[in-house]
Amino acid sequence: MRTAITGVGLFTPEQSISNDELVESFNQYVDAHNAEHAEAIARGDTVALQHSSSEFIYKASGIKSRYCVDKAGVLDPAVMHPVIATRGNDAPSLMVEMGLAAAREALARAGRRPEEVDMVLVACSNMQRPYPAMAVELQHYLGGHGFAYDINVACASAAFGIQAATDAVRQGNARCALVVNPEICTGHLNFRNRDCHFIFGDAATAVVVEPLDAAAGKVTFELLGTRLVTQFSNNIRNNFGFLNRSESPSRGWADVLFTQEGRKVFKEVVPLVSELISSHVADLGLAVKDVRRFWLHQANLSMNQLIAKRVLGRDATLEEAPVILDRYANTSSAGSVIALSLHHEDLAVGDLGVLSAFGAGYSAGSVVMRRVG
Ligand code: COA
Repeated sequence: MRTAITGVGLFTPEQSISNDELVESFNQYVDAHNAEHAEAIARGDTVALQHSSSEFIYKASGIKSRYCVDKAGVLDPAVMHPVIATRGNDAPSLMVEMGLAAAREALARAGRRPEEVDMVLVACSNMQRPYPAMAVELQHYLGGHGFAYDINVACASAAFGIQAATDAVRQGNARCALVVNPEICTGHLNFRNRDCHFIFGDAATAVVVEPLDAAAGKVTFELLGTRLVTQFSNNIRNNFGFLNRSESPSRGWADVLFTQEGRKVFKEVVPLVSELISSHVADLGLAVKDVRRFWLHQANLSMNQLIAKRVLGRDATLEEAPVILDRYANTSSAGSVIALSLHHEDLAVGDLGVLSAFGAGYSAGSVVMRRVG
């Protein structure tokens, strides 16, 4: 059975933080910390913290600003994390609420009613809790039926979710599958760490996967193939988990937030992903020169430029490999789908596109599609 993406949805938080605002808050924290530990620094017992800089952030990553669920908490040098009101168990979880907004937009574009959804996957990095699955909660508030489950393959989750959805639709196990990627990355980011305090932002995305012959929306992309790859690495890691309480000695908060070896990630992931895309396209009997668009995971601008160059054998234009990380930063699993959501309507029927998501694990996925309607 042929399958298709028939709708894409995006939820963007209202609040946004510029590099200058983030750096100002970080530098205030650094100054306060260094003043408090002035004597120890003077004795050489501790090292003074260094200022961050907007110029470095833009040059090293391509990021200018990021959306977030709570700007005030992140920018308060005494807090430096989003502050979220605790909700009772009877209210929708914040991540589910974000996912629902993206899901409803994707369904509207697909011309589908929520009650037609019979499979929900919440595929993302930063889960609100272990259980009940966010996907089951989202299915409940959406009013769908059938089954739902969560998938966590870090930043590559969207590609893994799309493969699981298309497999289920092909098998006849679902007719209208929803893959949702809500991310509150600011919740797991250490805003006191100069090396990475600028990296992440918050957003949610969703895609609808259906049999091609059921497509009723305005824009339809036939799924020509999906391919996934994983390769163990500790270079991007988050040690948060329910065993933190039991670990002895205990880790402390800094060690249960996001950490990475950015340079190593860059060096190792670029060949992994460019080889994945090139071989996938070729094995489908297609030519990369015919691919009109690459919706790449949005972590680092130079990294995406290099991946596109290795695949195409020349520099990609902004039209071929659109950039959204300048204003969204890295939104983990949502990044490649934000690029798809904001940059697909101009493609003509017959045009080929490749969505590629990649990140911790390492994990990477390639989704090759053709606009057919
Ligand atoms: N402000 C100013 N200077 C900073 C800084 C900041 N916020 N953070 C680091 N620096 C300094 C470092 O101290 C270092 O100084 P030195 O040369 O004197 O030692 C220098 O800038 C370079 O630091 P480095 O960490 O090597 O930067 P980089 O060029 O590798 O860029 C990343 C950092 C994170 C932007 C980049 O490595 C990256 O994006 N990698 C890919 C990561 C990725 O895709 N991860 C996926 C996550 S899901």
